[in-house]
Amino acid sequence: MKRGTITLRALAFALILLGCGPPGGGESGQALSTGTPSVEVTATPTEVSLPQVEGPVENADVSNAQLVALGEILYQQYCASCHGAELEGQPNWKIRDENGYLPAPPHDETGHTWHHPDEQLFEITKIGTEAFVGMGYRSTMIGFGDQLDDTEIWAVLAYIKSQWPPRIQRAQPK
Ligand code: HEC
Repeated sequence: MKRGTITLRALAFALILLGCGPPGGGESGQALSTGTPSVEVTATPTEVSLPQVEGPVENADVSNAQLVALGEILYQQYCASCHGAELEGQPNWKIRDENGYLPAPPHDETGHTWHHPDEQLFEITKIGTEAFVGMGYRSTMIGFGDQLDDTEIWAVLAYIKSQWPPRIQRAQPK
């Protein structure tokens, strides 16, 4: 993927994740008794570096905060357009359209992403559903292997998993 500029929206995520943005966290929030705290993003750098992830990453480790932070930014850039900013998926995702394609399923606990082990989710994301399923299966879920490296794919999956309630995280097959 290109590491140059990222969107301001992604920057806002980065700031929140890095602890610079959330309301009420610092001293400034204490005295306020009325009104809703707001997050102000005033910085407008043209280039932002993504969260750095240490080391070879070979799994979607939800306890790795840097990995999850990177994954959230990448998710919003590469996946949210179909799977939804809140992982909610597209409407009627179980019903094929007139051309036989399934809409994008949710990645939250209402979908069936969590029914797959990490390794399968990795393969699907890397090579796409058509190649994953084979046998001439047709799908609009492309593979992201030429846009995201392996660490970045694990990061996106770590972010998705981090959004599941603990009981769903535990229920996911290994
Ligand atoms: C162009 C729309 C689109 C984008 C962008 C997209 N997907 Fe998908 N995705 C789909 C569709 C449609 C399906 C269902 C495919 C099928 O089963 O035929 C799907 C299915 C999946 C599945 C399988 C889910 C399951 O329960 O079986 C995974 C995992 C997945 N996508 C991950 C991702 C990730 C990660 C990204 C971002 C890197 C992403 N997708 C971006 C459309 C998209």
